[in-house]
Amino acid sequence: MHRLFVAIRPPEPIRDLMIDAMDDTPDFRWQDDAQLHLTLRFVGEVERPVAEDLADALGRVRAAPFDIRIKSVGRFDQRNSGALWAGVEPKEPLAALAAKIERACLGVGLEPERRAFHPHITLARWKGRRSREAEEFVARRRALTSEPFTVGAFTLFESRLSRHGAHYEEVEGYSLA
Ligand code: 2AM
Repeated sequence: MHRLFVAIRPPEPIRDLMIDAMDDTPDFRWQDDAQLHLTLRFVGEVERPVAEDLADALGRVRAAPFDIRIKSVGRFDQRNSGALWAGVEPKEPLAALAAKIERACLGVGLEPERRAFHPHITLARWKGRRSREAEEFVARRRALTSEPFTVGAFTLFESRLSRHGAHYEEVEGYSLA
């Protein structure tokens, strides 16, 4: 089985900005440079033939490049885990691209994504309860913004989970034009 997702890799200066916004708080597992991405569609575990069909279908997605920028930070706080993330704006072109990718996914027989699309770039994760520490990070970094950058491509990634965390491997890249 292959654990797949479709995402945007921000350019290096944008990744550097996010890495600079991280701190050494031991409460969080900070993402490293190679892990920074904006998920457009989490696919999950699929067999190889489905993965191949999806890789082909994504090649038929048509969209023009567009500009976004980093805007502020936020958190997902669940009962026993959570994440800190960088926000992005505007959301409309990302949602439009995600909708086209969703159609490609449905076309190869995947179950529809039922959760709302909330574009973000995860900066750190935690296990247990870290509400106060997360709140403090969000307050400290609220003003985080970047220059606009062009999204000119998206990527099909395979996620490999290990004791050392997730490792993301590029399966195929797709240019927007
Ligand atoms: P996250 O960063 O908010 O956790 C690879 O796991 C990517 O797919 C991550 O960016 C993750 O988002 C996203 N993703 C979305 N839904 C997921 C799910 N149900 N399980 C794991 N990852 C998911």
